Parts: sequence; structure tokens; C-alpha cells
Amino acid sequence: MIEASSPAKAILFGEHAVVYGKPAIAVALDRRMVIRVVRSERFSVDRRPLTIRRNRYARWALENLYDGPPLAVTTSSSIPSASGLGSSAALSCSIAGAIGQINGGISNERCAGDAFEIEYNVQGRASPTDTSASTHGGGILVSSREEDERLWSLSKGDRTWHVHNLSIPPMTLVVGFTRRPSVTPIQVEKVANFYTKSGFARETIEEIGDLVWDAVKALKDRDLVRVGGLMNRNNSLLTILGVNSKELQKLKDAAAPHSYGAKLTGAGGGGSMIALTDHPKKVAASIERRGGVPFIVSISERGVSASGGVDHGGN
Ligand code: MEV
Repeated sequence: MIEASSPAKAILFGEHAVVYGKPAIAVALDRRMVIRVVRSERFSVDRRPLTIRRNRYARWALENLYDGPPLAVTTSSSIPSASGLGSSAALSCSIAGAIGQINGGISNERCAGDAFEIEYNVQGRASPTDTSASTHGGGILVSSREEDERLWSLSKGDRTWHVHNLSIPPMTLVVGFTRRPSVTPIQVEKVANFYTKSGFARETIEEIGDLVWDAVKALKDRDLVRVGGLMNRNNSLLTILGVNSKELQKLKDAAAPHSYGAKLTGAGGGGSMIALTDHPKKVAASIERRGGVPFIVSISERGVSASGGVDHGGN
């Protein structure tokens, strides 16, 4: 049996704008997607036959990255799906890691590339932020220019994203899940339409880009007050782009009195917000009172891992 696992992620700054080549900062969280893979008589996921509707990520990966006898995949995850916390990226990384392990083992760079291919082909338009955060663990900076501590670079069309290690100062984050799914392709498409039609949208994306560089500096200076202020500003710019929602804003407002700052995280629409705070229990209680599901999370240095081998005796 092969076991592969990958962490959830939260985007601290720059979601959506990163699709247009602006920088973004993401961290891996201490919640994981674990998959187990064994040889079998037919392809299956969680004991049900592989279908396009249910298993878009696994199916694309097995059809395009794998060449061998059928496999049975079982998943177990502590990442709520469609929550903005990267459950599909973690699944893509775990599958890429498991297939790599079957093929004799792969580097993180190759795993990040394969996992990005899975997401990109299933979602249509995507940056490598989520899959790279989940592959690497810790903190990453994604940008169109090369900086210190580059890990790998990934391209699509005429765009190249350079992915860097970014050390994140000790911090406590509270996630507030709205209970409403965030459907990434829909939100990304919505921003794409606005971007094509409106100079204001393009300026807003430029402004997010500038803000992310300020955030890189604030994180390096360990200035959490400034980091929090930038999170609030990033949330306002995402609201202009149309990806905030009343549920997300309600949870952000609930967190505000006890936080340095808070913002929606990931594609938005539904999904989750994050708050940076020294009072995680108070923030979690406020989020719960306003109808959200709180998770006190920490940043996980552990990225993708894969171990074991497939047996030859069926399932
Ligand atoms: C989704 O977690 C992040 C987006 O920026 C899309 C992407 O980068 O692929 C909205």
C-alpha cells in the first residue's frame, strides 16, 4: 500500500490577482488529506467506481499521469471540502505524490508541477499557489519575478510563476468557515469577466499586487499590526472584485474586535475567512456565535509526503 498525504492551505494575501501574474503569499495548515492506494481489479475511489462527476481530480490524474494496472484509492481528510482551504489542491498533491511513489519517487518540484497540471486541467484557469503551498508546507511567495529562496517555477501560456520559500513569523490564525461552498472556477471566471471589461478591476488587481509586496516586508519585519492592517485592506480590494459575500463579511466583522486583521481566503463567494489574532478562543467563539464554523489552526511545515509501495495481490 502507498500512503500519501498533503496539507490544507490558506492564502494570506493575493488570491485572484495571482492568476494575473501578481504576487501571493500562502501557508500550509495543520489539516491534511491522506490517501491510501492499493492495486485492485478496477479503478475506484472510496470503494465506488471512478466517475467524471464524482472524481474529476483523481480521474484526470490517473488517466494522464499514470500508466499501469487499476488502483483503488481511499481518502480521509480533515479539510472541509469547498471551504477555501485547498482540499482539491491537497487531493491533487496527494495523488501526484502517490503516482510519483509508484513510479519510483518524485521530487517536490515534480510533485508541484504534476499537482498544478491536475488542478489546471480540471478547473480551467488557475495559478500554482494552492498546489505549491500544499506541496512545500510552511510559507510560500508566488511571484512573476525571481526572488531569493526560489523553489521552482511553473508556466502556463505566456505566464510564469516563480515559487519561493517564505518564512512566516509565529502567528495564530483562526479560520471561519461560512458553511457555504466556495466554487473556485465560478469565482475565478467572475473575476476574469470583470477584468476583461473594466479598467477599475485591472487597477484593483494592480493594487493587490503592490499590497502583497508590503505584506512580504511586514512579515519579514514580524510586524503583525501591519500584517493585520494589510489583511483588512486586501479584503476590501477583494470585495471590489466581487468575491466577498455577506456570510464572509459577517464572520470577518465578528473576528475584528479581537484580531490584528481578517480577510476572506481563497476564491471566496462562500468558503472561509481567516483572522490573525492573539486571542484565538475569543475569535473562535465570535465566529461560532455568528453562525460560522471556527478552526484554530497553525502553520504546518510539513508538505506532501508519500511512502510505501503497491502490492501485487489485489485489494
Ligand atoms: C484559490 O484558492 C485561489 C485563486 O487565486 C485561484 C488560483 O490561484 O488558482 C482564487
